[in-house]
Amino acid sequence: MADNTTQTEEYVQLKLVINEESNKVLFAEAGKDFVDILCSFLTMPLGTIARLLQKDSNMGQITIGCLNSLYQSVVDLDKRYLWTDSIKELLLKPKNSSEDYCSTLKLNIDDSQPTEYFICARNYFSSECRSCRNISKSTYYKCSCGSRFDRSFFLKRFCKGFVNSVATFVITDDLINIIPNSAAYTTFSLLKNLGIITSSTKEMAVNVTKEKVVDLLKCALVSKSPLTDVFLGKKPSIERSRFLTCNAENSSTIQITIQLVIRKSEGNILFAHGDQDFADLLISFLTFPLGGIIRKLGEYSSMGSIGRLYKSIAESVENQYFISEEAKNRLIDPLLASEYKSCSSILPIKEQCLNYYGYYQSESYRYRSNDPFFITDKHYKDGGRYEEMRLHNNKNPIKEGFVKGPRTYLATDDLVIGPASPISASLLINRLQIPVDDLKEKNVTIGMKECLSILNAALTSTSALTNGLGHLLSEVMEEK
Ligand SMILES: *[C@@H]1O[C@H](CO)[C@@H](O)[C@H](O)[C@H]1NC(C)=O
Ligand SMILES: *[C@@H]1O[C@H](CO)[C@@H](O)[C@H](O)[C@H]1NC(C)=O
Ligand SMILES: *[C@@H]1O[C@H](CO)[C@@H](O)[C@H](O)[C@H]1NC(C)=O
Ligand SMILES: *[C@@H]1O[C@H](CO)[C@@H](O)[C@H](O)[C@H]1NC(C)=O
Ligand SMILES: *[C@@H]1O[C@H](CO)[C@@H](O)[C@H](O)[C@H]1NC(C)=O
Repeated sequence: MADNTTQTEEYVQLKLVINEESNKVLFAEAGKDFVDILCSFLTMPLGTIARLLQKDSNMGQITIGCLNSLYQSVVDLDKRYLWTDSIKELLLKPKNSSEDYCSTLKLNIDDSQPTEYFICARNYFSSECRSCRNISKSTYYKCSCGSRFDRSFFLKRFCKGFVNSVATFVITDDLINIIPNSAAYTTFSLLKNLGIITSSTKEMAVNVTKEKVVDLLKCALVSKSPLTDVFLGKKPSIERSRFLTCNAENSSTIQITIQLVIRKSEGNILFAHGDQDFADLLISFLTFPLGGIIRKLGEYSSMGSIGRLYKSIAESVENQYFISEEAKNRLIDPLLASEYKSCSSILPIKEQCLNYYGYYQSESYRYRSNDPFFITDKHYKDGGRYEEMRLHNNKNPIKEGFVKGPRTYLATDDLVIGPASPISASLLINRLQIPVDDLKEKNVTIGMKECLSILNAALTSTSALTNGLGHLLSEVMEEK
């Protein structure tokens, strides 16, 4: 008997041009469905990526720098160290700010729920309580007439992905070229230009499933030939990522003092102690969308071929292949979701949408639940009659950061973060079997430059602190 799940499994089609001799993908020809999926990788927050890397797909699990240990330490963190219960969920399944653009993806590998909104069903339509014609993100609140926001809604979205549906695109194996396949630049002329029409050049059609998209994300983060790896079944040629220092601007918006414990003989940082603002800073990495990170760090500082994907989108002059200028900006300058306002000193934040519109066909929609009625956050010219609404009690779930203070937290070189205690530090030193006279303490103040440097090191190495703060250790090394 045929398996039900494979029968109904969704896929998008992709045409590959391969070289049979070398068993390599030369390039792929794809339509909007596939290119939108590829683009959506840049909108994903690191926490989502960490979660997907742990998923079993054909490729198996993959680790990237310190990302997995950082993610796991939030999984393991006792809820009593967090300000509110919802914070853990907001870190482990982070919100992305391009939910509207991603809602039509043919295959969405991020299984987190779209944002839920609520209206106050009892009073929404009553004329006495006009202030009830608002929406809320939580059932916790009551409107001014005393009823709860209890009826759940998802916003109706009108964005249709990122790129135009009429274009087809040519994508090279290293994702460095994503070019519209226009009449002036046909596949054939590309082939000719590249000098690759040989007897071993073959065309191959593939059906890309969700599982393959997870593979593709994994390979795009570690390999320079993700299409070959995923579709010709090669093991990803994981390149040892070189650690590159980044030249971030120094701005004084962040000033955090931390205490480093250094192993003198090796010149590495074993761990760092800091207040809650230090723990919050490291944990906030999980909320950063990939594209925003690449924008800050420079496209070559990042892993695999994802920086090239970014570059090819950023440098594409054919703006008309994106559905709008904004669609392109969502990819090359994605913002933090508004929930993460307190993390916005490093990346810019998308301001909360303030106006919502409830569209209805006739007044009777109030009484008959099957009347068409929808809520959206964009004014929609042809929608018919509508009611303008505001977000009720728009409190930020993350007011004071993620972890509670005043308290000291400890972060290891590979970014395992937890509450600090004399025991946690001495256990760590014992476990590493380091003689006490080989240890040195040093207090340093870190700013924006160091934060970005730690982030960069966390994505490319398993020594985020040593590589990220190496420039602060010089005199320790001279002393030994
Ligand atoms: C963006 O976030 C929403 C919910 O927050 C989720 O439903 C959607 O799958 C996400 N999209 C991507 C591409 O991560
Ligand atoms: C909606 O909420 C806002 C802000 O909480 C409030 O001022 C207003 O009276 C409410 N009602 C309407 C109909 O806007
Ligand atoms: C893709 O799926 C379609 C429909 O299920 C099928 O006809 C086609 O043979 C598949 N193509 C490949 C390359 O598997
Ligand atoms: C960064 O700038 C601030 C103020 O402009 C200054 O106090 C600080 O020493 C600088 N930090 C570094 C590492 O250059
Ligand atoms: C670093 O700061 C801590 C707490 O502020 C202090 O107890 C410690 O003595 C300082 N260490 C050094 C080496 O200055």
